[in-house]
Amino acid sequence: MAVSKVGVVGGGLMGHGITQICAQAGWDVVMREVDDDKVAGCVGKIEKQLARAVEKGRMEADEAESVRGRIEATTDYGALADCDLVIEAITEDLGMKLEMWKEVDSIVKEEAYFATNTSSLAVIDQAASTSRPDRFLGLHFFNPAQVMPLLEVVQTVTTSDDALKVGFEVGEKLGKTMVHAKDKTGFIVNRLLVPYMLDAIRAYEEGVGSIEEIDVAMKAGANHPMGPLTLADFVGLDTLASIGSVMFDEYRERRFAAPPTLRKMVAAGWYGRKSGKGFYHYSGEKPVPTELGL
Ligand code: 3HC
Repeated sequence: MAVSKVGVVGGGLMGHGITQICAQAGWDVVMREVDDDKVAGCVGKIEKQLARAVEKGRMEADEAESVRGRIEATTDYGALADCDLVIEAITEDLGMKLEMWKEVDSIVKEEAYFATNTSSLAVIDQAASTSRPDRFLGLHFFNPAQVMPLLEVVQTVTTSDDALKVGFEVGEKLGKTMVHAKDKTGFIVNRLLVPYMLDAIRAYEEGVGSIEEIDVAMKAGANHPMGPLTLADFVGLDTLASIGSVMFDEYRERRFAAPPTLRKMVAAGWYGRKSGKGFYHYSGEKPVPTELGL
């Protein structure tokens, strides 16, 4: 089945980017969020990105208008009914995801495909909760989805070859670089990237370097676009802690365990860039390292 209409559930950090790139690829997109404020937040972010693209000469104004016109943003699950593919991008919480799929599975046409953008949860647990585990796969995007080239196309034990092919066709249309990943917690990138960020926090706890020194070192010494603590703030400290905890439960290896500093920062509501404070403060013109008093 050719995909012509895509549903995206969740319009946050990842969901708004996925919605935007799908609309830019020419598909009609239905984006579903829980309330009007969240719907407006998602649309606002997309409109800002489109305006920036026009301003920078990367997109014509009428094209940006067409992209915006292809997006239906709603709180109504019913609007997803005739989508060919539904991509889940809600909070990284298995219980919430299962509840969401129960609703979506009962509404969306039988022949449609389902995909999860989970960062760390096993795809099979979501696939098996639906009536179509053969048409269920993982499509793991990276933040910001508008910019990062990679898409991990994840096949779980129940994913049919046909569904996998659809996943690759979708990635192709989006212009992504794709890798075929197995359904192992964290897939390829987070299995390597998450312990790296957690280890940077441990290095900071052990006094190896200051927040800034650790970031400067990895930028200038390994040519990374962001240092690991800036990246942790960018991903979201709550998200990082939650991915680490899922991976620790799965593999029982210390490298995936959340260091005490991360646990405390999350408990304090310091989630990184999205909350305005993490390893850095984001209220001024430039990020300023947070005094953590270690
Ligand atoms: N949304 C859309 N576009 C964005 C954007 C965003 N949030 N942030 C930046 N961009 C675009 C800008 O518009 C700009 O394009 P332009 O020059 O044509 O306007 C381009 O990206 C470069 O942006 P900037 O000049 O502002 O800044 P940088 O050159 O520093 O690039 C970055 C920003 C692309 C975010 C870069 O710092 C980077 O690659 N950082 C690492 C990101 C990363 O590792 N992401 C993966 C996180 S892990 C993950 O997502 C997995 C999950 O499961 C946890």
